[in-house]
Amino acid sequence: MIGDLVGRPGRALFSTLIGPLRAKYRPDCVVVNGENAAQNGRGITAQTVEFLRKSGADIITSGNHIFGQKGYTEAFLSSDRLIRPLNFPSECPGKGYVLFTTPSGITIAVVNAQGRVFMHEQVACPFKSMESLLTFLKSQTKLVFLDFHAETTSEKQGMGFFLDGRITAQVGTHTHVPTADEYILPNGTAYITDIGCSASMHSMLGMNINSVLSRMITQLPSKFIVEEAVGPWVLRGVCITADVATGKALSIERVEIIKAELVINQDTAGKE
Ligand code: FE2
Repeated sequence: MIGDLVGRPGRALFSTLIGPLRAKYRPDCVVVNGENAAQNGRGITAQTVEFLRKSGADIITSGNHIFGQKGYTEAFLSSDRLIRPLNFPSECPGKGYVLFTTPSGITIAVVNAQGRVFMHEQVACPFKSMESLLTFLKSQTKLVFLDFHAETTSEKQGMGFFLDGRITAQVGTHTHVPTADEYILPNGTAYITDIGCSASMHSMLGMNINSVLSRMITQLPSKFIVEEAVGPWVLRGVCITADVATGKALSIERVEIIKAELVINQDTAGKE
């Protein structure tokens, strides 16, 4: 599971590194958070969904910015591998989970949910939404992976313990800063509060430092710009292994690859 790709640098990191990562870890499924993958860092276009899928993403999760591009409905219509937080209103396009069959014939569920603490969207209770969905998912597979897109460490930990032993893994996204608390919870669920983003290292959550800092200091409006010029560049994620028979996690390992140079063009980042 790979953390939030920010703009074109995030896409270039993914397309450049997914080959070596697949060779090293031999994953049955690659999940990537794409809610910041659009060129301006908000949302995702159908074109980018296709690019990431062709590059090697099996499932694309998202979060609060998922409807940030005009063509959001087309993005969902273009691929059933793009999911949005489960607890958004039912009128929103897309759905909150996908059942994926691996090349070796194993069915796994990947779920996306969003937290409520310090988040602007008025979404349904993520705990109750997960409880309802699990009743159905457990009739389909024992292997359930959750991307919980939330702001606070406490809400993410709360969800982790709420689901411990009932799902295979919960990874957090959204803060773009990785945490060092990856471990297996007492009842067998792999957990990490946040896997961090894939972007420029010398940026603020993937954005140009001055474009963010000037607003903090002056309180004047400032357009946040994705940092595309200043490296080094970092891809972050985790590799999780699980017991197919029980659905319990066996290991969770943080993955961080730093690149001094990164080619960012249409070949590596797609056309949008
Ligand atoms: Fe987010």
